[in-house]
Amino acid sequence: MKILVTGGAGFIGGNFVHYMVNNYPDYDIVNLDLLTYAGNLETCKPVEDKPNYKFVKGDIADRSFIYDLFEKEKFDIVVNFAAESHVDRSIEDPGIFVQTNVLGTTVLLDASKEFGVKRYHQVSTDEVYGDLPLDRPDLFFTEETPLHTSSPYSSSKASADLFVLAYYRTFGLPVTISRCSNNYGPYHFPEKLIPLIISRALADEELPVYGDGANVRDWLHVYDHCVAIDLIIHKGKVGEVYNVGGHNERTNLEVVKTILKALDKPESLIKYVKDRPGHDMRYAIDPTKLETELGWKPKYTFDTGIQQTIQWYLDNKEWWENIISGEYRNYFAQMYKDRVE
Ligand code: NAD
Ligand code: TYD
Repeated sequence: MKILVTGGAGFIGGNFVHYMVNNYPDYDIVNLDLLTYAGNLETCKPVEDKPNYKFVKGDIADRSFIYDLFEKEKFDIVVNFAAESHVDRSIEDPGIFVQTNVLGTTVLLDASKEFGVKRYHQVSTDEVYGDLPLDRPDLFFTEETPLHTSSPYSSSKASADLFVLAYYRTFGLPVTISRCSNNYGPYHFPEKLIPLIISRALADEELPVYGDGANVRDWLHVYDHCVAIDLIIHKGKVGEVYNVGGHNERTNLEVVKTILKALDKPESLIKYVKDRPGHDMRYAIDPTKLETELGWKPKYTFDTGIQQTIQWYLDNKEWWENIISGEYRNYFAQMYKDRVE
């Protein structure tokens, strides 16, 4: 079995590459990544010498490159993680989100159709469902919830999902889609909330909380996400969407305070800053389908997962210090300069 993993030098794709290389020694895992600002070969270090692993640098939106690669490698399964993934960046520059997330996905779909891929799996997000109100804790996203996006990021992901489903219906391409909630865990790029707060709190820097910090996210440990994708690509039904999330809702403020407590840092580091435009209020997944049809059960609760994650950042300072000492400093200065009220 030969599996193409795109975006495997990023956060979730990197964790998935580790998971597959180690759990399936008889599969060949090919990691294709453009190495954008979010891609980091250091993330692939633990598997780079394994005989069943190979890295290829390239762009999923580059049609002739992708066709050549598919013709040569004859993949059985494609798992597409490659994307622009940060909502704040999509507000600054939507174009690259259309290019990679929409066009790039259609190039992979065409190549999968052309070269007889047996399963195309699209890694999507619960953000395609829009948001839920804070005063209706009884509501959850199911696979039937209508798509209703808020940001250029989520719109690009929803658009890609529609293409994936169209290739199933129109061309019979064997596809599956997973829509997961906010992931956290090792190798998470420090522009996202949890690693940003951990790295800045350790340096005793101000911690930017958008608005009043009451927005709710449903946190999923990246390991449990990898297990879900493993189940879906092996046992999931083609043409189906599976939601992935484990009922771990927390307000942003709760998340920040949990990290501060674990690191023994004062809450006075918290700084409320200007809200994100169009900021989604609450995400919450109903994972019943994945649990009942495929037997998925998460290993981590938020309480156990966040402690494991904090410990990983303490034990792997070099990985994230290399990132935040480079171009990232300009990003932070630029992105946060207008937020200070
Ligand atoms: P990430 O930003 O950490 O990694 C993305 C990776 O894709 C990087 O390695 C980057 O170099 C690569 N990439 C970008 N453009 C590319 C291109 N044109 N060709 C090839 N490679 C390219 O993202 P992540 O957080 O690991 O997210 C992975 C996937 O999961 C994305 O599709 C994202 O939409 C989805 N997702 C993420 C979350 C989350 O909480 N992080 C939640 C739901 C869904
Ligand atoms: P983020 O990690 O960007 O993920 P997403 O926008 O995809 O949910 O943000 C998680 C939540 O944290 C979101 O409600 C925005 C908020 N947030 C802050 O309050 N401060 C920050 O500096 C960042 C990056 C996010």
